[in-house]
Parts: sequence; structure tokens; C-alpha cells
Amino acid sequence: MEQGEISLSDREFARIKSRVYQVAGISLSDAKRTLVVSRLSKIVRALGLPSFDAYVDYLERNGSASDGQDFVNALTTNLTRFYREDHHFEHLRSHVAGLIASKPRGTRLRIWSAGCSTGQEPYTIGMDLLAALPELKRWDFKILATDIDTAVLAKAAGGVYPENELNGLSAERARLLERAGSGSIRIPAAVRELVSFKPLNLIEPNWPMKGPFDAIFCRNVAIYFDKPTQGQVFSRLGKLLAPEAFLYIGHSENLGSGGEGFRLVGKTIYQIKQVNKRAAA
Ligand SMILES: C[S@@+](CC[C@H](N)C(=O)[O-])C[C@H]1O[C@@H](n2cnc3c(N)ncnc32)[C@H](O)[C@@H]1O
Repeated sequence: MEQGEISLSDREFARIKSRVYQVAGISLSDAKRTLVVSRLSKIVRALGLPSFDAYVDYLERNGSASDGQDFVNALTTNLTRFYREDHHFEHLRSHVAGLIASKPRGTRLRIWSAGCSTGQEPYTIGMDLLAALPELKRWDFKILATDIDTAVLAKAAGGVYPENELNGLSAERARLLERAGSGSIRIPAAVRELVSFKPLNLIEPNWPMKGPFDAIFCRNVAIYFDKPTQGQVFSRLGKLLAPEAFLYIGHSENLGSGGEGFRLVGKTIYQIKQVNKRAAA
């Protein structure tokens, strides 16, 4: 145990697992025990509480919404990067190029990054599409970016990152970001303006958005859910996709029981199955 960390009994760990599952759908494996101790100890100490048991009691009885949010924020995993799983952005680019070729200027284009973490995913979508398809400036183009973790959303909305986020990007891609001085890079205003960051818990029964979306990215998010929750989330995402739209999921994920109604069209890329109206008639 590191200095300042509080010891965690099996019973306390079980209570924490049960609570984060209930509020965020996150299934913590036993391997996450050290992570729980290191991330929550600071909060427990700051509240002046003596143990994790006392902390869970506090959350259950008199914790505020902001205490509940701090608990969730501490237990999410937010790893992300610009151009992660590159082939999805290539695929999206060619889909949107096709839409531009076949639809009039001013057409609506909506993309959702569900579980956007610190924003690299929605910003990559915006930067990549604007650079490749400048005609989009004359379209009604918006990106919705949501996450349950309000701390990552605040970072994302700032649009400023350390320069080492460019590591591994080609010079051409690195040029899509502005240099902000003191070792920082910044998302250009034209891209920032495309993206709206909003808090959303994907396991909430009511989502405020109506869609339809031309693409949904829900990558490396459902991986933290159990199978039934994964199935429900993917199936609900499918209902918000436009007929020709695509769902992009993480490299190690599959749709599970949510896959009914989807067809696989590329590596971890799905489209809604079209009902053949003539055959159905
Ligand atoms: C590993 S990041 C993935 C970021 C990005 N999509 C990517 O692939 O690079 C997973 C994100 O899912 C979010 N998340 C976890 N549970 C969630 C829930 N119930 N609703 C919404 N977002 C959730 C976490 O806060 C975290 O930012």
C-alpha cells in the first residue's frame, strides 16, 4: 500500500463494485482492487472519513450529487488518443465524401462520440473531416460528444493538450493542431465549434437526443460493462442511426446480444440491416 492509502477489505470492495455497477454500469474486476484504493483514498481522506465502509455509507445516506459524481469520475478509465484505431476515420471520411457527392449543400450531418473521454475522438472526427472535405463548412455539420465523467468533459471542452499527444502522428496530421506555447497544442477554433460536449450516462433509461446520427462512435466504452448492459446499449444506439449510417466500436468489442439488426461491414464497423420492402410486401 502506498503512503496515504486506506486499507480495503473484501466486503468494502464488494460494496464499491456494487455501487459503481449500479450507477454507471461499470463492472470492476478483482484486478481493479489496487486502482480502487489508489483513486478513492484521496477522496475518503478529503471527506475526513476513517474507512471505505464509512465512505459508502456516506454516499448512500448523505452524499451530494457532486460526491456521487466524484466517485464515478474516480473509477472511470479514460485512456484515449488522437487517431486511435485509424481505419474508422478513413472509413468515415469515405462515407461522408459519398454523402457530399450525392446531397445538396446545407444538408444535416450529425456524428455522436459516445464515451468521448478527454475529447481526442470527437476532435479527430472534426479535424479529419474538415481537412479532407472542406465543403463541409457549407453543411449543417455538428458533433455531439458525451461521457459520464464530468472531469474529462471539462478537459475536452478546453481543447488544449500536452504536445506529447502528437507522438506517433504523421507530420500531416500533427499540422491539424495549433501550437499553443509552453509545450501545449490546441484544437483550432473551427473544429472546436463543431463539437458540443455534454454529460450522459449511457445506462440511463432516457437519452435526450433523438438522432438520427450519420455515424456513432462508441469505442472502448462498453468494454467496462457486462454482457447484458453491452447488448442494451448497442441496441439503443442502433435505434438512433440513420438508415445508411455506421456504428464504430472498439477493436476488442462485439455487439453481443445488441447485434440483432446490425450487419458487419468492416473491421468493428456496423450498419443497420435494411428490411427489403419488396420482399416484405
Ligand atoms: C477508455 S475511454 C474511451 C474513449 C474513446 N471512446 C476512445 O476509444 O479512445 C472510456 C470512456 O467511457 C466512459 N464511460 C464509462 N462508463 C460510462 C457510462 N455509463 N456512460 C457514459 N460513458 C461512460 C468513461 O468515463 C471513459 O471516458
